[in-house]
Amino acid sequence: MYAQLVKSEGTSREEMSPEEIAFQERIDRNEKIEPKEWMPEGYRKTLIRQIGQHAHSEIVGQLPEGNWITRAPTLERKQILLAKVQDEAGHGLYLYCAAETLGVSRDELLERLHSGDMKYSSIFNYPTLTWADMGAVGWLVDGAAIMNQVPLQRTSYGPYSRAMIRICKEESFHQRQGYAIMMKMANGTPAQKKMAQDALNRLWYPSLMMFGPSDKDSVHSAQSMAWKIKMNTNDELRQKFVDQTVPQAEYLGLTVPDPDLKWNEEKGGYDFTEPDWDEFYQVLKGNGPCNKERLGARVKAWEDGAWYREAMTAHAKKKAARRSAVAAE
Ligand code: 3HC
Repeated sequence: MYAQLVKSEGTSREEMSPEEIAFQERIDRNEKIEPKEWMPEGYRKTLIRQIGQHAHSEIVGQLPEGNWITRAPTLERKQILLAKVQDEAGHGLYLYCAAETLGVSRDELLERLHSGDMKYSSIFNYPTLTWADMGAVGWLVDGAAIMNQVPLQRTSYGPYSRAMIRICKEESFHQRQGYAIMMKMANGTPAQKKMAQDALNRLWYPSLMMFGPSDKDSVHSAQSMAWKIKMNTNDELRQKFVDQTVPQAEYLGLTVPDPDLKWNEEKGGYDFTEPDWDEFYQVLKGNGPCNKERLGARVKAWEDGAWYREAMTAHAKKKAARRSAVAAE
């Protein structure tokens, strides 16, 4: 177990304080860490970064799908999509609450999102151009999210782990509704099947990018895995996602847009072409197709909601003043 006792890459156990060693031993015993317990500052900061970015992703992730609510092809599809978008808002709220237990306020997290200091998932900087994209988003994007989030149910920080248990239940419904749309489209008219293939072509690589850079370029993986904030490496999860998704594409009669995709008997998984990492880093820098639009929409929503926040705060103050006046009588 002591092999895992690394504070950051290159820091040995000998350099850890007794508190840090005791903390790591709790992690190694799979004990959950709870909000008021002692934790290394790096652990707290890493969690705020990861949970905060995850919360932002849920909230920004409502935008590409919200774009289709008014244009869903049937009333039933509209109701399902509305419910899904509403679920994402709920996921964002559970996660902001989990981050708040680490001593950061929701206002500060949102301020850091709006100023561009904090990230959200790269995937939401791509446009959703046709109704088939709603299918592909559910199937691929929620599918990739689940692949990443199911192991996070066992993450070492109690509030994050409990939030993930609730979130995963809903995400698996989202993935199925996406696949159901893809089935309909892929088995529909030739034009519908073409739309489904086009959605897969455009969203395949952005979905693979959701797992983060390749392990050799991942800055945080080693320490996050030692702390069990992350349970798997980025490449491990990406491989599992490809292995799970390729047969699903075949069942739909669609072609994964990778001519070099090939089953590798020896490793028991597919060999596949890596995403274009230059594109990934450009998207992270704010230069993806929809970065400005997405952030602009969130900032506008925050500014437009100012009057409501003020009214709620004034109302809460008035109620508190009334309560203390009654108590003083
Ligand atoms: N999009 C944006 N930024 C990304 C990214 C992505 N797909 N992948 C990695 N990055 C960023 C990291 O945040 C880090 O930047 P920072 O130091 O400025 O924070 C940098 O790239 C280096 O990557 P690392 O591999 O070192 O980073 P992590 O160890 O944090 O791993 C992660 C990245 C796998 C995404 C990890 O943070 C994680 O598991 N997060 C929790 C899950 C999550 O956030 N999911 C969002 C998906 S969307 C969603 O859930 C909505 C659903 O409804 C579909």
